[in-house]
Amino acid sequence: MKKNTFSLIDNRTGKNYEYPILDATRGPSVLDMRTFFKDSDMFTYDPGFTSTASCTSEITFIDGAKGELRYRGIPIEELALNHSYLETCYLLMTGELPDKDTLRDFDLEIRHRAFLHEGLRHLFAVFPDNAHPMATLSAAVTALSTFFDDHETCQDEAGYQEMARRIISKIPTIAAFAYRHSLGIPFIQPDIDLGFTENFLTMMRAYPGGKMHLCANGHETIKEVEIRALDTIFTLHADHEQNASTTVVRGVASTGAHPYVAISSGISALWGRAHGGANESVIAQLEMIGSVENVETFIQRAKDPNDDFRLMGFGHRVYKNFDPRAKILKNLQDELREELHLDNELMSIARKIEEIALSDDYFISRKLYPNIDFYTGIILTALQIPKTMFTPIFVIGRTVGWITQWIEFKKESSSKIARPRQLYKGN
Ligand code: ACO
Repeated sequence: MKKNTFSLIDNRTGKNYEYPILDATRGPSVLDMRTFFKDSDMFTYDPGFTSTASCTSEITFIDGAKGELRYRGIPIEELALNHSYLETCYLLMTGELPDKDTLRDFDLEIRHRAFLHEGLRHLFAVFPDNAHPMATLSAAVTALSTFFDDHETCQDEAGYQEMARRIISKIPTIAAFAYRHSLGIPFIQPDIDLGFTENFLTMMRAYPGGKMHLCANGHETIKEVEIRALDTIFTLHADHEQNASTTVVRGVASTGAHPYVAISSGISALWGRAHGGANESVIAQLEMIGSVENVETFIQRAKDPNDDFRLMGFGHRVYKNFDPRAKILKNLQDELREELHLDNELMSIARKIEEIALSDDYFISRKLYPNIDFYTGIILTALQIPKTMFTPIFVIGRTVGWITQWIEFKKESSSKIARPRQLYKGN
């Protein structure tokens, strides 16, 4: 028997199967079972992929038990506190943090590429005013693929990077247009003088021709603190290894489809409330709960096995300890409490839920901690961003992760079409 292998015995026949163990640089080793079907004429069964590694990756690492998250080896805390979202994008895409000159060039390129083809603008007009911005966003990103049909010829590093830089730049413009279309108001073009995050806030909130806000809350220009909070939210969402939407992006990539179509599919997958749509559902749920006195009733409902009500913003497939992104946002929330006027009824309800859930045996025994979405909603509400834009904001942050994972997939020589098997129980 070879040393770094794992044996499986079929107790029906006594036959022994031996599989190599692949060691990870961090985290659990992986059993290489690629030949299992050929060897045994059986499939492995793992719905929801709870024990399955679907690829090899060098981008993001999560230790769910410790509550640890790293992009390219760098802890998320360091990136969120000391680096901008654009620096984080560059890190994810290339593996290195940019030096000053590289960052300046990258930033300039992202600003220049933020404009949309005039033809794409017209697409928004076909959607009803009440269209959810996630639907519009997904459709517009698919439509973007028709303007950049060079993906078959761009099969080298330079081509991949170009695809990536374009989509990272244009996503905020598309998201802001989707939002303004939902309000029935004219679009604001990107402003080359503004950085990534300020530009997005301006495209969402400015009156045409000026920088006065549509939703003024006592100040007329965008505050530095708002840019900082949103930039941090983008960084915290930038990648999260093989989550549901990234798995969809890689799955579409495996068929050879256009990368923007793969990203559009990722956007659709993210929309669901078990995934990125949870941020919108958290605030909707807090509004439904209505007051601190009602919290206990809803906690009881969340614990009732006969009620499908779940506390939105709690639990995670991988984190069985505090989500490190949630910790950063909780601290940011406390820090910005005064400046962002966070002391309101929603915040009191959220605090009460958090307090009960963190001390209740139902949540403790199932390791259900608040996740990132529990805190983003409160901060985004304070930034006067409407609920329907919460998941599009997640999309803006996550686009770099999706496209970086797409590039990694394309560069993997042994990559195969994603094609799982099934346990057939029909007639
Ligand atoms: N409220 C109450 N009970 C919950 C919750 C919750 N939010 N989440 C899980 N549970 C319970 C389940 O009922 C189950 O209990 P049981 O063992 O008695 O049957 C147990 O905890 C395990 O739950 P699963 O659904 O098996 O866990 P899974 O890992 O498959 O799901 C998920 C993770 C989807 C995130 C889940 O916790 C959930 O629905 N949370 C609410 C939605 C949410 O916040 N999603 C955002 C995730 S973060 C992200 O995608 C950005």
